[in-house]
Amino acid sequence: MGDDDDDIPQLSSHTLAALQEFYIDQQQREGTKFKPSQGFIQYSVGSIEEDWLSQFWYDDETALCLANEAVLAAGRGGRIACVSAPSVYQKLKEQDGKDFSVCILEYDKRFSVYGEEFIFYDYNNPLNLPGNLIPHSFDIVLADPPYLSEECLRKTAETIKYLTKGKILLCTGAVMEEQAAKHLGVEMCNFTPKHTRNLANEFRCYVNYDSGLDHDSSCSECT
Ligand SMILES: C[S@@+](CC[C@H](N)C(=O)[O-])C[C@H]1O[C@@H](n2cnc3c(N)ncnc32)[C@H](O)[C@@H]1O
Repeated sequence: MGDDDDDIPQLSSHTLAALQEFYIDQQQREGTKFKPSQGFIQYSVGSIEEDWLSQFWYDDETALCLANEAVLAAGRGGRIACVSAPSVYQKLKEQDGKDFSVCILEYDKRFSVYGEEFIFYDYNNPLNLPGNLIPHSFDIVLADPPYLSEECLRKTAETIKYLTKGKILLCTGAVMEEQAAKHLGVEMCNFTPKHTRNLANEFRCYVNYDSGLDHDSSCSECT
């Protein structure tokens, strides 16, 4: 017998890709969005593998810390948007049952396997969002833009400011500190996000509110 994690059935990346194709076809045929049934879809971090789209997944502890921070910041019944940060979305969904709702805005259509909560998003068209996405309707927006360039940050910032009621949690390179302050008014936290692979660039988190990530370099909500 394995431990609990070993008992969770795992889908291969090929099976996930085939499922995604199937759902997209189905949506196009029926003009509807797929609603995944509980227990069928895999939400664990890394269940969709890193691809070529500037994808660097957080390690499990970082994804958990960021998810916990988002839940606390959003408050009871709060709405959370994960922009280009699918691991945090997956970690939030693992905790389903808590009192919050969440959307995943992502360019990688493999994540459309998550159904109605998936919103296709390309930072190059920052306000090209579905009509039913009401401005300033998310209690917190958490974002990790794909590139360390001012253009990418500026455009992603447009989306973030459109979506948020006020709170912003940004993860990006330490080199983006000045631009992050300029475009979003966020400040660097003590907490340092970690990834499953070692990255050449130092990554940091930035917030514009009093957050649990500010207290020390580990996550106060997870320790
Ligand atoms: C640096 S990674 C951040 C992922 C995060 N560390 C996590 O574990 O969830 C950047 C994310 O941006 C997405 N991305 C790539 N191209 C994009 C685009 N044109 N517009 C928006 N997002 C994009 C990638 O698929 C990836 O999820």
